[in-house]
Amino acid sequence: MSLYRAKLSSFGSHAPAKIVNNFDLEKIVDTTDEWIRTRTGMFERHHCSETEAASDLAYQAALNAIQASQVRFKEIDLIIAATVTGDHAFPSTACIVQHKLGLNHVPAFDISAGCTGFVYALDMAKQYVENGTKNHVLVIGVDVLSKITNWEDRNTCVLFGDGAGATIVSRAESSDISHIMDTLIDADGSMGDLLIQAAGGSRQPASHETVDQNLHTVYMEGNKIFKSAIRSMYASTMELLKRNKMTAEDVDWVIPHQANLRIIEGLASKLKVPMSKVIVNIEKYGNTSSATIPLAADEAIRNNKIRRGDILMLTSFGAGLTWGSVLLRY
Ligand code: UT7
Repeated sequence: MSLYRAKLSSFGSHAPAKIVNNFDLEKIVDTTDEWIRTRTGMFERHHCSETEAASDLAYQAALNAIQASQVRFKEIDLIIAATVTGDHAFPSTACIVQHKLGLNHVPAFDISAGCTGFVYALDMAKQYVENGTKNHVLVIGVDVLSKITNWEDRNTCVLFGDGAGATIVSRAESSDISHIMDTLIDADGSMGDLLIQAAGGSRQPASHETVDQNLHTVYMEGNKIFKSAIRSMYASTMELLKRNKMTAEDVDWVIPHQANLRIIEGLASKLKVPMSKVIVNIEKYGNTSSATIPLAADEAIRNNKIRRGDILMLTSFGAGLTWGSVLLRY
């Protein structure tokens, strides 16, 4: 039983300044603007400079989210960062952001759930707020996949961009219509090898050999996970709707993970939701992993597409394999 309800107070996002478009990639690997646009829907993506890292993007996104809310800095009482490309293996990127924000003594930790990280973090933050343990949880999705990209692998190097998005999960007042209605997270570890950064951990510690074999970069069998991405996001979305006695028609905006426009269109078609109700910004950012959903939500709010009171369905899929969805009234 929950003591309280949790709501999203605001969103904020940030992407690095450097923009790489499909024509730039034509100069690096054997690819074309036409292939990338028609197979993925992507046209450009943002990449960090040599000196930028995950916590720099996360800090800026967090600042933007705090400034867009009524929440004061000192009211934030937990920080969760979802990332697979943190500044270091440890300490956590959440701790680095905590220090940059000057929020000393606020607990902070990272979670690893690939591109589903933001949804996993929301699921966790909701419980802290609902059980009364925390009042304002800063949740960040940040990834810098350009730093772990194999620039000789055209199957993956054209797909990824860098970015960060943040939200504040706050205790809802009884008068608030905004609240997180329900969340659902799931995983299937048997397919973990299909999307993996194999080396650099305790299984294959960094060595000259692992570097020579490019094992510190993203390996993905994209076509093997394409169908399960649609299937899993559809199943979790439908399950959430069913257990809340709602249909897809009740949802004002679907905000899916931005991995591939064809996956997004496939999901919308199965849900029987018109693309006019689906938030898409993949053409500008590519796949920013755990940042795609908060980046897309923040942009849509700032463009006055999403308004207070709208029903949102967030849904994602990623390494693990993991997937999950969040149903909320913004
Ligand atoms: O975010 C986490 C979860 N990730 C996903 O959900 C990604 C899911 N997968 C996908 O989005 C798609 O599978 C990709 C975009 C990764 C690939 O698209 P695809 O339509 O599944 O292509 P494919 O891997 O089946 O490759 C088709 C052809 C191959 O050539 P052949 O063997 O038919 O001659 C590839 O070598 O396209 C070729 N290809 C390219 N050609 C030009 C692959 N990448 C490129 C490229 N430029 N960048």
